[in-house]
Amino acid sequence: MAKHDKIDVGLSTILNPVPVVMISTANKNGDKNICTVAWTGTVNSEPPMVSVSIRKSRLTHDFIEETGEFVINLVNKNLAKPCDYCGVKSGRDEDKFKKCGLSSIVGKNLEYAVAIKEAPVNISCKVVSKTELGSHDMYIAEIVGITADSYLNDENGRLCLDKAKLVAYNHGEYFLLGEKIGFFGYSIASEDVLKKRLG
Ligand SMILES: Cc1cc2nc3c(=O)[nH]c(=O)nc-3n(C[C@H](O)[C@H](O)[C@H](O)COP(=O)(O)O)c2cc1C
Repeated sequence: MAKHDKIDVGLSTILNPVPVVMISTANKNGDKNICTVAWTGTVNSEPPMVSVSIRKSRLTHDFIEETGEFVINLVNKNLAKPCDYCGVKSGRDEDKFKKCGLSSIVGKNLEYAVAIKEAPVNISCKVVSKTELGSHDMYIAEIVGITADSYLNDENGRLCLDKAKLVAYNHGEYFLLGEKIGFFGYSIASEDVLKKRLG
């Protein structure tokens, strides 16, 4: 067969790569939890909004139902193993903050949900709707606050996410983001701009 001759590979959640994030939550008693989520995405710009899809069986689902709040914590290389761990163990059985040696901090502009101190970026979210899709309930949420590690800012106060060494999830495996090969609009950028931005 030639390279671009097509084969049928069936139906599955094949959209890849996707972000993999650590969702931190708390209930009204102050019990805290972390859960790994790959079914998440940006769904609106103004106001900034995201979706997360969570199975009803997760403790995280219970906590989000109780408070309507969660924090999306971006995952870097240092957090890759704890991230995987928080995706294979339930907070119903153990304290994943303690087990992973992670610290909780107040979620910016939230009443209940906590953030993970060791994560490079923490995105505070308040639920605006829930859709039951089948296996997962999809929450649409508005971003109400964002905090980031100070080392990510450059001298002009610009957030440089490329410094965060973020992790992506591709077909069941974790990958460290690698080489920069372009930027928004680079296909029509001038030689000068290309040189400045890509070297
Ligand atoms: C890489 C990865 C991605 C995952 N993505 C999701 C997801 O999008 N939605 C979900 O409900 N569970 C997802 N899980 C499974 C939960 O993280 C896992 O069941 C976890 O133990 C639930 O924790 P909890 O009961 O403390 O909330 C994922 C697990 C891994 C390892």
